[in-house]
Amino acid sequence: FEMIDKNVVIIGSGYGGSVAALRLCEKNIPVTLLEMGLDWEKSGQKFSSMINPGHSAAWLKTKTIAPFFNLFSLEKYTGALDRLDFEHIKIWLGRGVGGGSLVNGGMAVTPKKEYFKEIFPNLDAEQFYSKYFPLANNELKSNVASEEFLKDCSFYKFNRVGEEEAKKAGFKTVRVPNVYDFKYMEKEYKEEVPRSALAGEVIYGNNHGKNSLDKTYLKKASATGKLEILELHQVNHITQNPDKSYSIDISVINTKGEEIQHKIINTKKLILSAGTMGSLELLLKSKAMKQLPMDDKIGKDWGNNGNFMTGRNWVKAFSGGTGFQQSTIPVGGIDHWEDKDRPFFVEIAPLPMGLNVATSLYLMVNKLKKYGEVNYDLATQKLQLNWDQSHTAHMKDNAKNFLRTMNKANGGTRAHLLFHNGFGADVCYHPLGGIVLGKATDNFGRLNGHKNLYVIDGSLIPGTIGVNPFVTITAIAEYCMEEIIEKDFA
Ligand code: FDA
Repeated sequence: FEMIDKNVVIIGSGYGGSVAALRLCEKNIPVTLLEMGLDWEKSGQKFSSMINPGHSAAWLKTKTIAPFFNLFSLEKYTGALDRLDFEHIKIWLGRGVGGGSLVNGGMAVTPKKEYFKEIFPNLDAEQFYSKYFPLANNELKSNVASEEFLKDCSFYKFNRVGEEEAKKAGFKTVRVPNVYDFKYMEKEYKEEVPRSALAGEVIYGNNHGKNSLDKTYLKKASATGKLEILELHQVNHITQNPDKSYSIDISVINTKGEEIQHKIINTKKLILSAGTMGSLELLLKSKAMKQLPMDDKIGKDWGNNGNFMTGRNWVKAFSGGTGFQQSTIPVGGIDHWEDKDRPFFVEIAPLPMGLNVATSLYLMVNKLKKYGEVNYDLATQKLQLNWDQSHTAHMKDNAKNFLRTMNKANGGTRAHLLFHNGFGADVCYHPLGGIVLGKATDNFGRLNGHKNLYVIDGSLIPGTIGVNPFVTITAIAEYCMEEIIEKDFA
């Protein structure tokens, strides 16, 4: 067991942690970044595709866990995708250097200004839309597919069908930016470069094309020579010492998940960026162990960003379906946010099963009507989530109406083949909130009651932002770090 002193420590290498790392390193401040998952690039291992799952497919599980693809046996390994199972909801997460950016669909969506103002009344929206959102999109390398490519590419038939049918049903469709490099994808299509999005890679990692954080923020941060990344370092809990420094209790693990070393790292400044569920677990657990003083706002205002999955079977079944081959990268959305009674946003999602399934898959993002709450149970050593059907009832209602309208205009049935009853109320890719900006922290992520403990990740967003969240998480991290570095690191 080893005891080490560090100046600044960041826990977690997702969006929040990567922004924090770059902005500190740029100012010549040495940073230690602790990540429980693997550094995939350093490991030299390849990510596996969805239809041929290997090491990257799941975090220490013996069966695959991707939605609709959970039939395969696996060797227990520190894979890139994890799933937390609660009674009424399953939450998917990325693990590894780059966090969620390794496994996600790359959709880089800036939220609606009006909704952003509603969710963050204390933030200067003008400043966000003129400065932090453009900065985030630029650093993340967000780009848009050319219409010409999408019109012809056989791998985007699912999207053409999805948009055509939405329009026929009276909905408005929108093009959605992504961090996947569409110029690379065009070359993939012509078979000039190795295929990734067009070879069924996404939720277990992409070997090419996707500008995940290891290729953007973290790459830049590493280039400063100030960043130390410690992979396979799983933080167990945090203690505040009498001199107000922090001690971080760490299990260094091997790729089977076994502890091979126990470490304590002491630090004066600690940035918690373990993602919504990770940061909540560390704070609530350390509080329950009476090691970290904290107010009772932690765990409140949690939400699933209105995530609700649904789909339609028998889509154009007799006129060619949704396509045999599908790109894994979504490019289309249905914007129904202005509807007063039933506002929602829909991602037209691919279903790259390698078969023409004549099925359309939709990830809906709804508003929240009721927040969830997160607690920690010391006896079982587990997070508890107060979340059930009462939180998702209106989302189900929206989904029912959406499908009814789509089926009436286009034919097709509710996707009983994909989900029980055709509705995936329990599918969550966007857990948000619990350590809300301006409530559990000040307006810049400084945790209440602490001077040198910061939270910078999705947990700052109160449960909902109306679109896929990583652009917002990045922009908020940029905004918080600018102030924190100026005031607290001078
Ligand atoms: P994030 O979860 O990215 O990072 C946290 C990191 O901390 C992880 O690497 C984790 O391993 C590490 N960590 C946690 N606990 C730790 C501990 N105790 N010790 C050490 N390390 C620890 N969003 C979007 O905008 N567009 C999209 O297309 C998609 N698509 C999508 C698909 C799928 C399948 C998923 C699972 C998610 C998405 N998302 C998405 C969501 C998006 O990926 C997510 O919101 C962000 O990754 C969250 O960023 P954070 O910085 O909050 O944490």
